[in-house]
Amino acid sequence: MTFENTLAYAKSLDEKDPLAKYRDEFNFPEVNGKQVIYFTGNSLGLQPKRAVEYVNEVMKDWGALAVEGHFYAEKPWWDYHERLSEPLSRIVGAKSSEITVMNTLTVNLHLLMTTFYRPTASKYKIICEEKAFPSDQYLIQSQVRLHGLDPKETIIELKKRPGEHNFRLEDILEKIDEVGEEIALVLIGGLNYYTGQVFDIKTITAHAHQYGAKVGWDLAHAAGNIALKLHEWNVDFAAWCSYKYMNAGPGSVSGCFIHERYHTDKDLIRLAGWWGHNKERRFLMEKKFDAVESAHGWQISNPSILSLAPYLASIEMFDEVGMEALITKQREITAYLEFIMEDVAKAVNANYELITPKKETERGSQLSVFLHGKGKDLFSYLMNEGVIVDWREPNVVRLAPVPFYTSYEDIYRFGEILKKADSLF
Ligand SMILES: Cc1ncc(COP(=O)(O)O)c(C=O)c1O
Repeated sequence: MTFENTLAYAKSLDEKDPLAKYRDEFNFPEVNGKQVIYFTGNSLGLQPKRAVEYVNEVMKDWGALAVEGHFYAEKPWWDYHERLSEPLSRIVGAKSSEITVMNTLTVNLHLLMTTFYRPTASKYKIICEEKAFPSDQYLIQSQVRLHGLDPKETIIELKKRPGEHNFRLEDILEKIDEVGEEIALVLIGGLNYYTGQVFDIKTITAHAHQYGAKVGWDLAHAAGNIALKLHEWNVDFAAWCSYKYMNAGPGSVSGCFIHERYHTDKDLIRLAGWWGHNKERRFLMEKKFDAVESAHGWQISNPSILSLAPYLASIEMFDEVGMEALITKQREITAYLEFIMEDVAKAVNANYELITPKKETERGSQLSVFLHGKGKDLFSYLMNEGVIVDWREPNVVRLAPVPFYTSYEDIYRFGEILKKADSLF
């Protein structure tokens, strides 16, 4: 693609953009009375206006119906969570029976590990990536201790080569071969939160399955961002949060995928609760647990409807547009951002080092950039100028142009603001 760094060109891309009209579906914060340029949808997505409507509907039903809302609300609460399975299944490439929505991400990974990490004396090791998102590190360490094992002997971290920013597929496969039959579980973040690297989920899953290992994915940064085919790729389980690319609001409820081959196995160990019990018999208050024969069988508590409502509003928008159109724009607008940053760096002789892979199939919306010699001053300047970016120690900004609401003009204007920065420090 050949791009130009001009306002007219950026505007021409916006005019051709079939998703441009969705920008107006979101509420933007303001800085100094001006709408911000929002690059932190990888952390917390903007608020969809429809989410406000959906939450208000629940509040209205609660006020008007109280307990009767479980059955007579506009969207009855007792099986509200089931409404999300179908649209979510299209976002992550699954059968709708393989999707449920409950709790929050780390909690769900704990619950799924309870089922899928069943160590034995000879098969107990867990492979994960080095410097995984801290919550995943704590999750894995604590699960290992729960089974009375030593994290140092049990957790095998995948390493990058010295001086390289990204993991190499061949190194990952080699490590799986090396640990072999001792692997009980492979659990990796599908899109690395720091560098933005996408892992080859299909190949890694198939490779670890050869050794009888279970394979799970933390898709916090991948769901709603990149193309996923969880069912076809034979993934055992996955979970993601809804508040990043899926715009469901702070701390909103998490999605889970559990492959259908596990749905009818009543002997699987799981932490159970009444919401996972046979739907028709749930209110008979029976003694014996009888799991729903789908991913909903992993539900425990009656879910927060106030958290499901904004998620439903948001994923209905995904359904209107389709992942294909979102990914097409994601690739183009991310490439435009990369071009603008390179163009500015050349113009002002700055050293911005991209640590995200350059190949469009190996990254999503996020570009992570080392700001050599600029660091936190530049970050603070951008925030004051109304460019909301994300800072990660020691010296990285993460920028996520989000197809639903980032415009090409945003990217151009960001470039102009970045250029001005050079004369300031
Ligand atoms: C990759 C990854 N895993 C796990 C988490 C933790 O999510 P939660 O606090 O919803 O459990 C996050 C949060 O940003 C994340 O980015």
